[in-house]
Amino acid sequence: MHKSYGVNEIREMFLKFYETKEHLRLPSFSLIPQNDASLLLINSGMAPMKPYFTGEVEPPRHRVCTCQKCIRTGDIENIGKTSRHGTYFEMLGNFSFGDYFKKEAIAWCWEFLTSPEWLGLEADRLYPSVFAGDETTPADEEAFEIWNKDVGIAAERIFRFGKADNFWEHGSGPCGPCSEVYYDRGPEYGCGKPDCTVGCDCDRYIEVWNNVFSQFDNDGQGNYTELKQKNIDVGAGLERLACVSQNVESLFDIDTVMNITRKVSGITGATYGQSHQKDVSLRVITDHIRSATMMICDGVLPSNEGRGYVLRRLLRRAARHGKLLGVDKPFLFEVCAVVIQENASAYPDLKEKEPYITRVIRMEEESFAKTIDSGMRIFTEMLDGHKEKGEKTFSGADAFKLYDTYGFPIDLTA
Ligand code: SER
Repeated sequence: MHKSYGVNEIREMFLKFYETKEHLRLPSFSLIPQNDASLLLINSGMAPMKPYFTGEVEPPRHRVCTCQKCIRTGDIENIGKTSRHGTYFEMLGNFSFGDYFKKEAIAWCWEFLTSPEWLGLEADRLYPSVFAGDETTPADEEAFEIWNKDVGIAAERIFRFGKADNFWEHGSGPCGPCSEVYYDRGPEYGCGKPDCTVGCDCDRYIEVWNNVFSQFDNDGQGNYTELKQKNIDVGAGLERLACVSQNVESLFDIDTVMNITRKVSGITGATYGQSHQKDVSLRVITDHIRSATMMICDGVLPSNEGRGYVLRRLLRRAARHGKLLGVDKPFLFEVCAVVIQENASAYPDLKEKEPYITRVIRMEEESFAKTIDSGMRIFTEMLDGHKEKGEKTFSGADAFKLYDTYGFPIDLTA
């Protein structure tokens, strides 16, 4: 069995490793995109560096590495219901802007993942994949050969997947075929189907690394042109690597995140792992408070539009789940202290801004509590009205009015 490392150790280990490969370590960019109207929030390690990929702007060095704070809220409704969705995560990345290409990227990826000096995962649990090609783009035989001949992975252990898995693009900008690496967590995580293998969407084989060979520019309409230079964009989810290293079930079980859930449990009295419904609430609160703390630190304020609305929605969803767990007072502002403590070594500005972050969260919780209190009064009046008329069902029209006019969340009505 491999050694287990904490989240903060893995982050530092990754950045150190790439420094030994002459990369310049840059701090995480802000979650607020600069000069990029195509994104509301930074969602990957490469996003803040698009101009370096296109060659528009000269990078501080042609090899850099980062640990980037990221937010993806596309599947916010799924957060909490499963143990693998989260809105906030950190992406470890090494980047080449017209410097090294596939050969080095793959060799270093393998060295970092398997060398006992670094993460030290079992080589026989790792499976690379390469782009299988389609009608417009040829299969990536070059990456296949590197995995097979240079790294020495048997051909049958290298998987070939199509565009959905092995071609990275996000709207317009630099993109290209990629080569992902999967870790086999063992049959106990599997779905048990006879054809379960790498690529199955159960929890057994999880993607831990994505080597993107950024060589095209997508104009946003699906037209690709070759970039002036060939680049490398590597993204490895820090929480996922920690999950594998620590051999725990989900991103909610890794050390730093579990410490946040413990704090929430302490306040709410709900213990993780005892009931599905309570786990959903504990996960929503844990995930959302991580996102909110980081967003506020980077200068986002709750509001009714854009990024501010994303933040407001996260804080209100978290507060509402607190209510579902029986908490009747603001409490998120206390939980954010743990988020700050767990992340302070990587993001020192969190500590500096702690009083400010705490105040913003508390004010939002208090204003939401007022909305809930007045909503509860109106809800009770409506409920009494239904009862007086002998109706057994709370009308959809009233539930909608509560939500639409008074901002009262539909699941509280339910
Ligand atoms: N851009 C790729 C991703 O987000 C690799 O960094 O997965």
